[in-house]
Amino acid sequence: MKHPILAPSLLAGDHGALALGASQVADLGLKWLHLDLMDGHFVPNLSFGPQTLAALRRHGSKLFFDTHLMLSEPHRFIDAFAKAGADRITIHIEPAYDHAATLRSIRALGLKAGIALNPGTPAESILPCLSLVDLVLVMTVQPGFGGQAFREDMLPKIAQVDCWRHERALDLRIEVDGGIDLATAALCRAKGADTFVAGTSFFGATDKAALAASFAAL
Ligand code: DX5
Ligand code: ZN
Repeated sequence: MKHPILAPSLLAGDHGALALGASQVADLGLKWLHLDLMDGHFVPNLSFGPQTLAALRRHGSKLFFDTHLMLSEPHRFIDAFAKAGADRITIHIEPAYDHAATLRSIRALGLKAGIALNPGTPAESILPCLSLVDLVLVMTVQPGFGGQAFREDMLPKIAQVDCWRHERALDLRIEVDGGIDLATAALCRAKGADTFVAGTSFFGATDKAALAASFAAL
């Protein structure tokens, strides 16, 4: 099993001091920062844009930018996010666009590529993309807002992706996002997840170092 990675979601940080939030993550020795991009169309909310990533880089962040595009037309913004400093770009399977071409274009820019699926989307929908990504993001809430309750009914989907990973000997990370705290992360870990996005539970924690250590021991 791959070692556990905690990817704090800056969406739950102080939006007036995002660079400070990124520094808090780095100061703990964590390597990943999860960035949630929303277009008010694929999801009913807005967050930030490529200029935010660029600003975080300007402020000195060297974290691995795990960029989650909740956009109806992600293919239009790949170049912009690559230029702004994204390290990984994860796109959703649900909207209609050329997923394979978009994943190839992400890789052609030298970035890591991921595919995400909503709670209502069957696991099988991502099968054609599995050879084009090195991360599958299983949403454990309906995307759009932080602070929602974890959906336990997503656990079989994690197990299914883990099963394909083994059967096909794929070098994939399985990431979960939404309602993740230590308890729900442990449930996901037991099904094969290895990458944990935590917004509310991370930025709301008083002892972030202890929390990070507990995630590392999952
Ligand atoms: C939800 C986003 C998540 C969100 C998770 O649309 O994709 O990354 O920040 O927030 P919590 O951890 O609060 O559920
Ligand atoms: Zn996310």
